[in-house]
Amino acid sequence: MEDILKSLQVKRIAHGISTGIHAWEGTGEKISSRTPINNDIIGEVALAGTKDYRKLMDKAVLAAIEWRTVPAPKRGELVRQMGNAFRENKEQLGKLVSLEMGKSLQEGLGEVQEIIDICDFAVGLSRQLYGLSMHSERPMHRMMEQWQPLGVVGVISAFNFPVAVWAWNATLAWICGNVVVWKPSEKAPFSAIACQQIMQGVLKANNAPEGLSNLIVGDSSIGKAMAEDPRVALLSATGSTRMGKSVAVTVAARLGKSLLELGGNNAIIISPAADPKLYIPAVVFGAVGTAGQRCTSTRRLIVHESIIDKVTGDIAKAYAQIKIGDPLDETNHMGPLIDQMAVDAYLAAIANAKSEGATLVYGGNVLKIKGLEAGYYVEPTIMRAQNHYKMVQHETFAPILYIISYKTIEEAVAIQNAVPQGLSSAIFSQDIRETEYFLSAQGSDCGIANVNIGTSGAEIGGAFGGEKETGGGRESGSDAWKAYMRRQTNTINYGKTMPLAQGIKFDL
Ligand code: UN1
Repeated sequence: MEDILKSLQVKRIAHGISTGIHAWEGTGEKISSRTPINNDIIGEVALAGTKDYRKLMDKAVLAAIEWRTVPAPKRGELVRQMGNAFRENKEQLGKLVSLEMGKSLQEGLGEVQEIIDICDFAVGLSRQLYGLSMHSERPMHRMMEQWQPLGVVGVISAFNFPVAVWAWNATLAWICGNVVVWKPSEKAPFSAIACQQIMQGVLKANNAPEGLSNLIVGDSSIGKAMAEDPRVALLSATGSTRMGKSVAVTVAARLGKSLLELGGNNAIIISPAADPKLYIPAVVFGAVGTAGQRCTSTRRLIVHESIIDKVTGDIAKAYAQIKIGDPLDETNHMGPLIDQMAVDAYLAAIANAKSEGATLVYGGNVLKIKGLEAGYYVEPTIMRAQNHYKMVQHETFAPILYIISYKTIEEAVAIQNAVPQGLSSAIFSQDIRETEYFLSAQGSDCGIANVNIGTSGAEIGGAFGGEKETGGGRESGSDAWKAYMRRQTNTINYGKTMPLAQGIKFDL
């Protein structure tokens, strides 16, 4: 543990507030970050107080005034160098993410790879950010639109993706000409502190304005301050639907912009025309990866009644192969849950689902791993259930997979859509009528709808996010960058007269 921190130049008593150039200790309460692997303390960090927030925001606002004047491709050059710094530190940062959050090392490394990928994407975008030009109805007039920076972009990230989701937001925000104030989860502050450390050299070497990349480790009072602060032009928040609703209301009350990426309740439909070679690994990775703590985790399996017993048996057989333990040991597939609260929620969900009529097919128990007894390990769990059960409608951040039966493809899609959330969805079928129906306007109502691949593990190139209680925001690829800029319509008269639009006459 010490080695990982040392190689990333992160101190065990860390400074949780930073402008990218300077860091200081918060004036709030001291907290310890513990690894869920065995509950050992990684280090300590003091939370931010209101004074720290004010000081940081003042720097951010000044930096925004400077940064917006830097040409976009030059902003991209800084992000290119950041990408290289993350390449150099991939191994160590991946290990730290795995240590602090508990996901498997492969997934920790994958998360750092997402940072590297989005840096590359942002660099390319920094030479694009295209606006349109229009034909004016007036002679000697030109119309166009431009995209301008917003100013300060706030990012609130969750424990489950402690670094990648910040990078989706931050890299796009920067090349769009904004500065970033990042409040990471208090459950994973060291991963965030390490990112700041990795970027510091690049920021200094390029004489970047102090306050371009800010970090503020704090509790929900800091999140609230960001939501209320009119200087935060856009607040991008990832986390629970409950948190998102409160952010949305507070930001909307000042008519600010918010970008929300909240809960999912993602399903895979398995048709009789599905290929087991494809769906078994996809279902298992989707449900068990990150110990079921991705917003894209597979939580429901909607299986045709004619094959449901066979599919359930095959998935249970695959579950029996899953190795659970220290996520830093690469032979393990699944690490611990994040904390005791998550274990309690796992147990409560299973008990509640049973009381509603669900039956346990596999797992259901807390595990004590030898030598790691203080860690938060659970068995991946399979239950036969019905879609309307309260527990099935609810997102529990744990590896619980509910299997539900269907008769027709129309019914399968209706079941898939009959939840409050709308993030990710998938169908496994070789029948083009079924797969195209799933992708049609009557099909999946989710932000992500996949065919013959699972619900999790999206690439950065697509727009990421979902509908309904998932919050409606889109981050990462495609044209998600537009959320980080303001659109300005320009009409230019290069003639010698002053005609009005719509043919209105106003002669003086
Ligand atoms: C999240 O869980 O908040 O698609 C993000 C995926 C990852 C990102 C998940 N690329 O599973």
